Amino acid sequence: MSNRTPLMAGNWKMNLDHLEANHLVQGLAMALSDAGHDYSKCEVLVIPPFTDIRSVQTVVEADGLDIKYGAQDVSIHDNGAYTGEISTSMLTKLGCTYVVMGHSERREYHNESDELVGAKARKVLDAGMTPILCCGEALEVRKAGTHVEFVLAQIRAALAGWSAEDVAKIVIAYEPIWAIGTGETATAADAQEVCGAIREALRADYGDATAEATRILYGGSAKPANIKELMAEADIDGALVGGASLKADSFAQMAGFY
Ligand code: G3P
Repeated sequence: MSNRTPLMAGNWKMNLDHLEANHLVQGLAMALSDAGHDYSKCEVLVIPPFTDIRSVQTVVEADGLDIKYGAQDVSIHDNGAYTGEISTSMLTKLGCTYVVMGHSERREYHNESDELVGAKARKVLDAGMTPILCCGEALEVRKAGTHVEFVLAQIRAALAGWSAEDVAKIVIAYEPIWAIGTGETATAADAQEVCGAIREALRADYGDATAEATRILYGGSAKPANIKELMAEADIDGALVGGASLKADSFAQMAGFY
């Protein structure tokens, strides 16, 4: 049993307006409370679209909730003439504690490179928030059997030049693209193969302390029916959940995997 606190993170993607966001957070808080959720056994994080963050903050603060919230992306620039972008200082002001970067949907639709993803992670860490660095292979790579090398190369390119202390503060999310939103979950063994390889690469590059401290999540059709099996694996410290995080009961049930 590791000392890492499990993390159940709900990536809402481009779903829910601010009123629906309020409703979901209130429903989630209620479902977690009804289940007697122990937040020390699993941190609960919601990651809404930018336009919902202020509403989520209001609910969390008004009701004194232990649910954390974050953002799905961020700019590498400070405030200024960058039309359409959102800065780290805007997110910290709203109480965000986590930011996702390098999600395969952003890599695909916005051509985000490993270097840009690494720069975003740096910016987020420097602002006092926790980066959730996503990686994962497409189906062709999986079929070719080079998925482990592919994923390790993504992570190493993003984190080039980082110190062991800083790497220990981030969260890495392994999301095989072929399992995202498809209903096709990687088996627990498939997920462990890559998450275990990521931890061994961290050990080789940064030493034992960093390898043992860094949390590694699995993402890709994670749901109540498979979460226990995934969480039983030695190197899976939580999940980055898409579809199933949009339903309060399902997501609360996943957070209560322990
Ligand atoms: O970031 C979460 C994600 O991409 C997985 O989505 O809907 O397959 O759980 P989903």
